[in-house]
Amino acid sequence: MDKLLIQGGVPLRGEVRVSGAKNAALPILCASILTARTLRVSNVPHLRDVTTTLTLLAQMGMDVALDERGGVALSAQRLDNRVAPYDLVKTMRASILVLGPLVARFGEARVSLPGGCAIGSRPVDQHIKGLQAMGASFEIEHGYIHARSERLRGVRIVMDMITVTGTENIMMAATLAEGTTVIENAAREPEVVDLAQCLIGMGAQITGHGTDVITVHGVHALHAADYAVMPDRIEAGTFLAAAAATRGEITLRSARVDSLDAVLGKLQEAGALIEVGDDWISLKQAARPAPVSVRTAPYPAFPTDMQAQVMALDCVADGTALITETVFENRFMHVQELRRLGAEIDVDGHTAVVRGVRGLSGATVMATDLRASACLVIAGLVAEGDTVIDRIYHLDRGYERIEEKLSHLGARIRRIR
Ligand code: EPU
Repeated sequence: MDKLLIQGGVPLRGEVRVSGAKNAALPILCASILTARTLRVSNVPHLRDVTTTLTLLAQMGMDVALDERGGVALSAQRLDNRVAPYDLVKTMRASILVLGPLVARFGEARVSLPGGCAIGSRPVDQHIKGLQAMGASFEIEHGYIHARSERLRGVRIVMDMITVTGTENIMMAATLAEGTTVIENAAREPEVVDLAQCLIGMGAQITGHGTDVITVHGVHALHAADYAVMPDRIEAGTFLAAAAATRGEITLRSARVDSLDAVLGKLQEAGALIEVGDDWISLKQAARPAPVSVRTAPYPAFPTDMQAQVMALDCVADGTALITETVFENRFMHVQELRRLGAEIDVDGHTAVVRGVRGLSGATVMATDLRASACLVIAGLVAEGDTVIDRIYHLDRGYERIEEKLSHLGARIRRIR
């Protein structure tokens, strides 16, 4: 298993390009199931979760062609297997995103029920409830969700809680339903908006994306389209937090500035000087960071996917910060590992109290999930001496060439195979 070796203590400096967004690319790739025509997707990040999604689509009988510039052409013309098997779903919960498109276009889907995962139980009841309201019937057999339907019907659906992939599944299914679907209490995440824009490019009739009420007028068929995935706001935020923690100075290119308001606000609170242009962000952190307290919540509030990285920054801040996680019930697994690097953190239920220390000291730590891994990378970049991060396959799920990009910014980091 690969590990990362980091010799910390070097401020990050220089420029780096932000990759395409994982959490926009995954639903957009699955949207290709909705049409017999070709969907060409560009700015697709090279990540393990993308590879898993393409493997899943290919197993269903889809034609998947990669081009040399990292784009993918997908055609569902010969899709004949409507199953998402356990061995793929267990490695990537986002496989559930094939459910809505399969039911809408083929009237049938068998998707393995995702089990619990490292960050919480993460049920999919809202996905099922929405599709049921549209006329699909569901059975759970042998660990699989088996959905069947005639043509789905548009209805008004009020989501019990804000769910990103739940909103995406229903929105995709509604594009081919008969009549109008209104999704209330919908997720407003930029990735939901990016998916909606791709679907509109394919001929879907969607309004209200980016608000909490999304309206979809169903059409008979979607057509071919070309779509470029938005830049990854969490990758961008991770690099910015790393630069602030190491008291560096970096510029991000190809960034989606407007998707990062809550994160940029918190970094400014930490004392970072931030400048932005149309598609770039620069950050300079001169002094020891001030502590920043955050409370995670759905967009546009502070993202749960940046909670661990900001905790790494708070570990070396000049004071005490409170970090409250409200989206997932078990997303503090990085705390134990940060303590091994010398951080002072207490957890009480959903809140972590982080008392900043002057410095961290390198140690061997273990990554437990994707964003926890990113947090350990930041802590390792700050810590004095060597930090070895084990189980970095989590990191490879969501960060494209992270050690290359960080090396380019001056970090002493390398992969040990
Ligand atoms: N929930 C339910 N029932 C449902 C759906 C969700 O109870 O049917 C709960 C979840 O258990 C959780 C909360 O609602 O407590 C929100 O979960 P949500 O459904 O929004 O999460 P998701 O769609 O499974 C996406 C991202 C996650 C990100 C969350 C929250 C993708 C592929 N994944 O997950 O990304 O943390 O939204 O913003 O879009 C990551 O990239 O590291 C990552 C985990």
